[in-house]
Amino acid sequence: MAIQWFPGHMHLTKKAIAERIKEIDVVIELLDARLPGSSANPMLAELTGSKPALKVLNKQDLADPARTALWLDYYNRQPGTRAIGLDASMSTPAKALIEACHTLAPTRGSMVKPMRVLICGIPNVGKSTLINTLTGKRATKTGDEAGITKVEQRLVLADGFYLWDTPGMLWPRIIVAKSGYNLAASGAIGRNAFEEEEVALELLDYLIPNYPAMLESRYKLKLTPESTDEQVLEEIGRKRGAVLSKGRINLQKAAEIVIYEFRAATLGRVTLETPEEFAQWLAAGQLLDAERQVKKDKIETSRLVKLKKIPRSAKPDLR
Ligand code: G4P
Repeated sequence: MAIQWFPGHMHLTKKAIAERIKEIDVVIELLDARLPGSSANPMLAELTGSKPALKVLNKQDLADPARTALWLDYYNRQPGTRAIGLDASMSTPAKALIEACHTLAPTRGSMVKPMRVLICGIPNVGKSTLINTLTGKRATKTGDEAGITKVEQRLVLADGFYLWDTPGMLWPRIIVAKSGYNLAASGAIGRNAFEEEEVALELLDYLIPNYPAMLESRYKLKLTPESTDEQVLEEIGRKRGAVLSKGRINLQKAAEIVIYEFRAATLGRVTLETPEEFAQWLAAGQLLDAERQVKKDKIETSRLVKLKKIPRSAKPDLR
């Protein structure tokens, strides 16, 4: 897909996390409960190694509760990992968060041995909102836009409980095509970086088999086993009056409606991936990535042979 991806200041973020991690007891990764797999950053696992991990499925108010339960169970079964669901409407999210951290690092949390926690998450996942609720004040946003000074913040959540906010941006690395679409649908990617129509079609492609009743009820349409994403998008456009001259459907407008109503959950509470589905997408994505790497290596070897930097015998079979 044509998602233009801007890694931005990832190297700064990476450096900051690598430096801070040595003295951290628990790493909190904020995930979007509607797309936990796609909103995770695999680089974080590499940087944090075996540090206890708390996965916070944020915006759970927008997600399918049955699927949130599946994801919580999935993470809670992983060693050294706890998972909780949160959303901005909770007045006291700190309690659940602090409790989960204590379970993960039971020897920490006193004045002598304070609990030191690092919080990370991709843009728009709700990090600032959560930090503001936790601290009861308006915290500065750390590095959500190019040009903003990236400063690390240390916040005191309770006596002997310190929270470090990562500076810079933590972008996910999209090796799974479906993740790109899901991130775009969720609002994690700036709107200039993708085609709304393409994202809406992918979204409908998932919603038709997984949430048919919601689509039927929201858009007053009748799905059949033959319904395609293109037909449904047209139908939505027609129903919502997104019609151009000579009765043509304004597909751009229809796409915006679908994406907006998914984001606001006016469509209903939807989760775009299950742990099992995501594992399959990831395996396929990793395979493709590895194939791409092999191709790249072959091209590079050929180039070096041409430049006589390595012997001809090293020339690969470029099929
Ligand atoms: P970030 O720091 O991770 O980039 O995210 P931020 O807190 O700025 O939140 C991004 C958007 O997500 C905000 O909406 C925020 O209100 C919304 N949000 C955060 N947490 C939750 C949650 O638990 N549930 C729901 N439903 N929404 C949440 P916005 O439209 O960008 O801004 P605004 O509507 O707050 O003005």
